[in-house]
Amino acid sequence: MNSVIIHGQSHRGSTWHIAETLAKQVGGPVTSFMLPRDFSAFCVGCNQCFMKDEKRCPHYEQLAPITEALNRADLIILASPVYVYHATGAMKAFLDHYAYRWMLHRPDPEMFFKQGVVISTAAGSGTRSANKDMADSLSFWGISHIEKIGVNVRAVSWETVPSEKKTEISKKVGRAARRIQKRAGRVKPGFKTKAMFNLMRRISRGGLSETDKAYWQKQGWTGKSRPWKKA
Ligand SMILES: Cc1cc2nc3c(=O)[nH]c(=O)nc-3n(C[C@H](O)[C@H](O)[C@H](O)COP(=O)(O)O)c2cc1C
Repeated sequence: MNSVIIHGQSHRGSTWHIAETLAKQVGGPVTSFMLPRDFSAFCVGCNQCFMKDEKRCPHYEQLAPITEALNRADLIILASPVYVYHATGAMKAFLDHYAYRWMLHRPDPEMFFKQGVVISTAAGSGTRSANKDMADSLSFWGISHIEKIGVNVRAVSWETVPSEKKTEISKKVGRAARRIQKRAGRVKPGFKTKAMFNLMRRISRGGLSETDKAYWQKQGWTGKSRPWKKA
């Protein structure tokens, strides 16, 4: 399996260790990016990606290596420490750049056949909301199978995570890796994803902008074709 990890921080702490261990256990090549080290731009709200073309985004070139890695990956891992109950600002700023890829706009049909993982660690609480911040993007990109790993590590560094906690983490990661391997090569979009796509299709009525309209027509989604089946 080809994996990509987007780390929502630029240091190698608890979250980094869990994400890298999971990817290693799943097996296959792994490409990792750290934020803001590898991408630090904020969306400027120009709407060019929605209305015209994502290539008009002022950060398109800067983002391209990550976009290409996401496109190549079978498994997308988004990992972030919990900062004030949510994913880091760096992760949020990164995800904002792919709003045009949400199902309502121009989802990449390949996404419907990928797997996703969201990982967050907190000292005490907040992993549920941080994981939701990241899982929302994965599911609206079209990914059905999303593993969620949230751990309250009771520490602020990997070195000080209690050993019994590390054992618990190792078991959790092992179980998730096995489930991911089991699904490898036979990922199909689930009922919820298909229903969501069909709802978005009704809301957008074949595309909210001229660019979206042309995209939906080219994909055949205004007719009988769907991302998971050709007409
Ligand atoms: C700015 C900031 C905000 C944080 N907010 C929370 C929080 O809301 N809840 C919590 O339990 N821990 C919070 N923490 C602690 C970290 O989430 C926790 O130590 C995490 O495991 C760090 O992961 P890392 O080792 O990958 O950096 C915060 C830490 C920082 C630096």
